[in-house]
Amino acid sequence: MYVCLCQGITDGQIREAIYEGCCSYREVRESTGVGTQCGKCACLAKQVVRETLADV
Ligand code: FES
Repeated sequence: MYVCLCQGITDGQIREAIYEGCCSYREVRESTGVGTQCGKCACLAKQVVRETLADV
């Protein structure tokens, strides 16, 4: 599922970034570019980050 249409980032890519070492929304944003354009995806992206961090 696409989370960020501007950058074409999927929830899978966000999870991947976390498995590779990101441990906050900010780090995921810096590493993937998610939420760096219109910002509409920020809420959903944060939620995916939170859920993934709770799992690992
Ligand atoms: Fe993510 Fe626009 S949808 S920055």
